Amino acid sequence: MFDHLLANRLQGLAGEAAFKMLAAANRLEAQGKKIIHFEIGEPDFPTAKNIVAAGKKALDDGFTTYCQSQGIIKLREAIAEHVFQYKGIKTEVDEIVVTPGGKAAIFYTICVLVNPGEEVIYPNPGFPAYSSVIRYAGGIPVPVDLREENDFRLDINELKAKITSKTKLIILNSPSNPTGSALTRSDLEALADVIKGKDIFVMSDEIYDRILYDGKVESIAVLPGMKDKTIIVDGFSKAYCMTGWRLGYGIMHKEIAQNVTRLLINSNSCTTHFVQIAGIEALTGPQDSVGRMTEEYRRRRDVIVDGLNAMDGITCRNPKGAFYAFPNITGTGLKSSQVADYLLNEAGVALLDGSSFGSAGEGYLRLSYATSMDNIHAGLEKIQKALRKMISTAK
Ligand SMILES: Cc1ncc(COP(=O)(O)O)c(C=O)c1O
Repeated sequence: MFDHLLANRLQGLAGEAAFKMLAAANRLEAQGKKIIHFEIGEPDFPTAKNIVAAGKKALDDGFTTYCQSQGIIKLREAIAEHVFQYKGIKTEVDEIVVTPGGKAAIFYTICVLVNPGEEVIYPNPGFPAYSSVIRYAGGIPVPVDLREENDFRLDINELKAKITSKTKLIILNSPSNPTGSALTRSDLEALADVIKGKDIFVMSDEIYDRILYDGKVESIAVLPGMKDKTIIVDGFSKAYCMTGWRLGYGIMHKEIAQNVTRLLINSNSCTTHFVQIAGIEALTGPQDSVGRMTEEYRRRRDVIVDGLNAMDGITCRNPKGAFYAFPNITGTGLKSSQVADYLLNEAGVALLDGSSFGSAGEGYLRLSYATSMDNIHAGLEKIQKALRKMISTAK
């Protein structure tokens, strides 16, 4: 009814398939159906007790007020130390902005850097907020396909061919949602070489880099000349199971940080004070739960990938990081959206159509294995049965 009265800039904004599928699954659950959830990218572990206790104490201690818009100094100091320890990047507190979630850091970064008509290169399939916010900012989304034969890593030569005089920003996401792929040091070196001497920034979304099964964390920001051109996006949701706390951050040149903060002041004033105190505990307290959780994800990954590979018409690569399996279903002859709908309604399994992450995701499904081993076994069995039925009726 009000469509014609809404601001034009909203036209670019999309929803997110994971939340849509969750809502559809919840509707079925409300009707009494049992659903196995593989759709939402959320750790199934609780926030560690020491972090919860720090949050509660901060509430009791009265940290219920506004605070510095850029983030409280103690948290920014803890982030600087953490980033040095894990990513080998030396950074100062004025280069860090604390945000209400990593997603807010993505939103602010794109809005601060991208003018209408400027191009932003991003991975396809990729996290849906990238293309959506690029369009919202008036920018032109320029997808680069992640190909299975390249282990879903960005092909830097293909990316190079997409750079024009209008390119403003390149988005990286390693380990990647939805493919679980990870960029190698040589990919990053090749990219750094391609943009050397050009006024192009890189937004490197590293939110899954603590959930890496092999190899070591690589950030493009450590390469010569890249720190000032890189905006690192990170957050507490995945590594510390703090999705609902809404805590993330960006690391960037201090001039960009000042402008991201300006946008934050105008939209959010600051990130929740007591949540930031809990964030200090997350970074400075015991880290063993992160390692234990990643080992559990590895066990689940092995089960889900083997189970998917055993199904007719399906092949699945081993994700290198994050907690998503991204099986290729082209051998079934079925469309991804058809399969996702059928599995939800006929088998009670909620997972995502790969094409909801971009056109290059057609022919794939995304399953989050941030769920119990029992659910994984039961879900695989249901998928297997339902697919057999679907394929035989399609013949
Ligand atoms: C690739 C990627 N980046 C960023 C985020 C944002 O996470 P949050 O806003 O919870 O920190 C997500 C969450 O799913 C993600 O998958």
